[in-house]
Amino acid sequence: MPQTGNRYHQHFEYMFVFSKGSPKTFNPITEPTKYQGLANMKNRGPNGSLDYEKVERTTEKKVGNVFFYSVGGGISTKDKVAYNHPAIFPEKLVADQINTWTNENDLVYDPFMGSGTTAKIAHLLKRKWLGSEISKEYAEIAEERLKEHTINNLFAAI
Ligand SMILES: C[S@@+](CC[C@H](N)C(=O)[O-])C[C@H]1O[C@@H](n2cnc3c(N)ncnc32)[C@H](O)[C@@H]1O
Repeated sequence: MPQTGNRYHQHFEYMFVFSKGSPKTFNPITEPTKYQGLANMKNRGPNGSLDYEKVERTTEKKVGNVFFYSVGGGISTKDKVAYNHPAIFPEKLVADQINTWTNENDLVYDPFMGSGTTAKIAHLLKRKWLGSEISKEYAEIAEERLKEHTINNLFAAI
Protein backbone atom coordinates (compact mmCIF):
# COMPACT_ATOMS: atom_id res chain seq x y z
CA MET A 1 0.00 0.00 0.00
CA PRO A 2 1.23 3.57 -0.63
CA GLN A 3 3.40 4.96 2.16
CA THR A 4 3.34 8.54 3.35
CA GLY A 5 6.37 10.43 4.68
CA ASN A 6 10.02 10.14 3.75
CA ARG A 7 10.13 6.57 2.61
CA TYR A 8 9.62 4.49 -0.52
CA HIS A 9 6.40 2.61 -1.08
CA GLN A 10 6.36 -0.87 0.42
CA HIS A 11 6.27 -3.18 -2.59
CA PHE A 12 6.38 -6.65 -1.09
CA GLU A 13 5.40 -8.79 1.84
CA TYR A 14 6.74 -12.24 2.69
CA MET A 15 4.42 -15.20 2.75
CA PHE A 16 5.53 -18.28 4.66
CA VAL A 17 4.32 -21.76 3.78
CA PHE A 18 4.69 -24.26 6.61
CA SER A 19 4.01 -27.94 6.25
CA LYS A 20 4.13 -30.92 8.57
CA GLY A 21 6.15 -33.20 6.31
CA SER A 22 5.93 -32.88 2.55
CA PRO A 23 2.72 -31.14 1.46
CA LYS A 24 0.15 -33.75 0.45
CA THR A 25 -1.31 -31.52 -2.24
CA PHE A 26 0.55 -29.27 -4.64
CA ASN A 27 -1.32 -27.94 -7.65
CA PRO A 28 1.22 -25.48 -8.98
CA ILE A 29 0.25 -22.32 -10.77
CA THR A 30 1.77 -22.51 -14.23
CA GLU A 31 2.55 -20.17 -17.08
CA PRO A 32 3.26 -20.80 -20.75
CA THR A 33 6.85 -21.64 -21.61
CA LYS A 34 8.62 -19.11 -23.78
CA TYR A 35 8.58 -21.21 -26.95
CA GLN A 36 5.04 -22.52 -26.51
CA GLY A 37 5.79 -26.19 -26.86
CA LEU A 38 7.43 -26.34 -30.27
CA ALA A 39 11.12 -25.76 -30.57
CA ASN A 40 13.09 -25.34 -33.76
CA MET A 41 16.29 -27.31 -33.53
CA LYS A 42 18.84 -26.06 -36.01
CA ASN A 43 20.81 -28.65 -37.98
CA ARG A 44 23.04 -27.92 -40.93
CA GLY A 45 21.67 -29.48 -44.11
CA PRO A 46 23.93 -31.01 -46.79
CA ASN A 47 24.23 -27.74 -48.72
CA GLY A 48 24.80 -25.69 -45.59
CA SER A 49 21.15 -24.70 -45.25
CA LEU A 50 19.50 -24.74 -41.87
CA ASP A 51 17.02 -27.54 -41.33
CA TYR A 52 14.39 -27.07 -38.72
CA GLU A 53 13.22 -30.07 -36.81
CA LYS A 54 10.18 -29.63 -34.63
CA VAL A 55 10.58 -31.08 -31.17
CA GLU A 56 7.79 -31.40 -28.60
CA ARG A 57 8.43 -29.50 -25.40
CA THR A 58 6.32 -28.89 -22.36
CA THR A 59 3.98 -25.97 -22.90
CA GLU A 60 3.60 -24.95 -19.26
CA LYS A 61 6.03 -24.43 -16.40
CA LYS A 62 5.65 -23.68 -12.70
CA VAL A 63 5.70 -19.99 -11.92
CA GLY A 64 8.37 -18.56 -9.65
CA ASN A 65 7.80 -17.68 -6.01
CA VAL A 66 7.27 -13.95 -6.50
CA PHE A 67 3.58 -13.21 -6.90
CA PHE A 68 2.15 -9.91 -8.11
CA TYR A 69 -1.26 -8.72 -6.98
CA SER A 70 -3.02 -5.44 -7.43
CA VAL A 71 -4.52 -4.11 -4.21
CA GLY A 72 -6.72 -1.27 -3.09
CA GLY A 73 -10.30 -0.07 -3.19
CA GLY A 74 -12.43 -2.02 -5.63
CA ILE A 75 -9.45 -4.17 -6.67
CA SER A 76 -8.73 -6.49 -3.74
CA THR A 77 -12.43 -7.37 -3.76
CA LYS A 78 -15.64 -5.93 -5.14
CA ASP A 79 -17.35 -6.45 -1.75
CA LYS A 80 -17.70 -2.91 -0.37
CA VAL A 81 -18.36 -4.07 3.18
CA ALA A 82 -14.94 -5.75 3.34
CA TYR A 83 -13.21 -2.36 3.26
CA ASN A 84 -14.47 -1.69 6.77
CA HIS A 85 -11.60 -3.98 7.75
CA PRO A 86 -8.19 -2.24 7.60
CA ALA A 87 -6.08 -5.06 6.20
CA ILE A 88 -7.92 -7.29 3.74
CA PHE A 89 -6.13 -9.73 1.47
CA PRO A 90 -6.67 -9.56 -2.28
CA GLU A 91 -9.05 -12.36 -3.25
CA LYS A 92 -6.73 -13.51 -6.02
CA LEU A 93 -3.91 -14.18 -3.55
CA VAL A 94 -6.22 -16.28 -1.41
CA ALA A 95 -7.58 -18.17 -4.43
CA ASP A 96 -4.07 -18.96 -5.68
CA GLN A 97 -3.02 -20.35 -2.31
CA ILE A 98 -6.18 -22.39 -1.77
CA ASN A 99 -5.96 -23.84 -5.26
CA THR A 100 -2.28 -24.67 -4.78
CA TRP A 101 -2.46 -26.47 -1.44
CA THR A 102 -5.94 -28.01 -1.40
CA ASN A 103 -8.41 -29.90 -3.54
CA GLU A 104 -12.21 -29.64 -3.66
CA ASN A 105 -13.89 -30.73 -0.42
CA ASP A 106 -10.71 -30.20 1.62
CA LEU A 107 -11.00 -28.11 4.78
CA VAL A 108 -9.41 -24.65 4.86
CA TYR A 109 -8.96 -23.05 8.28
CA ASP A 110 -8.13 -19.37 8.67
CA PRO A 111 -7.36 -18.49 12.31
CA PHE A 112 -7.27 -14.76 11.48
CA MET A 113 -10.35 -14.43 9.36
CA GLY A 114 -10.70 -10.64 9.33
CA SER A 115 -13.24 -9.65 6.69
CA GLY A 116 -13.83 -13.25 5.61
CA THR A 117 -11.81 -13.38 2.39
CA THR A 118 -10.66 -16.96 3.00
CA ALA A 119 -14.19 -18.15 3.78
CA LYS A 120 -15.64 -16.56 0.68
CA ILE A 121 -12.99 -17.87 -1.68
CA ALA A 122 -12.88 -21.33 -0.09
CA HIS A 123 -16.64 -21.54 -0.56
CA LEU A 124 -16.47 -20.43 -4.19
CA LEU A 125 -13.71 -22.97 -4.84
CA LYS A 126 -15.85 -25.75 -3.28
CA ARG A 127 -13.70 -26.21 -0.19
CA LYS A 128 -15.05 -26.53 3.33
CA TRP A 129 -13.89 -23.76 5.59
CA LEU A 130 -13.60 -22.77 9.19
CA GLY A 131 -12.55 -19.45 10.64
CA SER A 132 -11.90 -17.63 13.87
CA GLU A 133 -11.63 -13.91 14.44
CA ILE A 134 -10.92 -12.27 17.78
CA SER A 135 -12.64 -8.98 16.99
CA LYS A 136 -16.43 -9.02 17.16
CA GLU A 137 -16.50 -5.98 14.91
CA TYR A 138 -14.49 -7.74 12.20
CA ALA A 139 -16.43 -10.98 12.57
CA GLU A 140 -19.59 -8.98 11.90
CA ILE A 141 -18.03 -7.54 8.74
CA ALA A 142 -17.25 -11.06 7.60
CA GLU A 143 -20.77 -12.26 8.38
CA GLU A 144 -22.25 -9.38 6.43
CA ARG A 145 -19.93 -10.02 3.52
CA LEU A 146 -20.59 -13.73 3.41
CA LYS A 147 -24.34 -13.20 3.53
CA GLU A 148 -24.10 -11.53 0.13
CA HIS A 149 -22.69 -14.77 -1.18
CA THR A 150 -25.37 -16.86 0.57
CA ILE A 151 -22.74 -18.58 2.65
CA ASN A 152 -24.55 -19.87 5.69
CA ASN A 153 -22.03 -21.74 7.82
CA LEU A 154 -20.86 -18.66 9.69
CA PHE A 155 -18.46 -18.27 12.58
CA ALA A 156 -19.24 -19.64 15.98
CA ALA A 157 -18.94 -16.91 18.60
CA ILE A 158 -15.53 -16.91 20.26
C1 LIG B 1 -4.41 -9.18 8.49
S1 LIG B 1 -5.95 -9.42 9.24
C2 LIG B 1 -6.60 -10.71 8.25
C3 LIG B 1 -7.35 -10.17 7.08
C4 LIG B 1 -8.04 -11.22 6.26
N1 LIG B 1 -7.10 -12.10 5.58
C5 LIG B 1 -8.93 -10.51 5.24
O1 LIG B 1 -8.74 -10.69 4.02
O2 LIG B 1 -9.81 -9.77 5.67
C6 LIG B 1 -5.59 -10.29 10.74
C7 LIG B 1 -6.81 -10.54 11.61
O3 LIG B 1 -6.46 -11.39 12.68
C8 LIG B 1 -7.24 -11.05 13.81
N2 LIG B 1 -6.60 -11.62 14.99
C9 LIG B 1 -5.49 -11.18 15.63
N3 LIG B 1 -5.20 -11.97 16.67
C10 LIG B 1 -6.14 -12.95 16.69
C11 LIG B 1 -6.35 -14.08 17.52
N4 LIG B 1 -5.55 -14.35 18.54
N5 LIG B 1 -7.38 -14.89 17.23
C12 LIG B 1 -8.21 -14.63 16.20
N6 LIG B 1 -8.07 -13.56 15.38
C13 LIG B 1 -7.03 -12.74 15.63
C14 LIG B 1 -7.29 -9.53 13.73
O4 LIG B 1 -8.38 -9.02 14.48
C15 LIG B 1 -7.40 -9.28 12.23
O5 LIG B 1 -8.74 -9.13 11.81
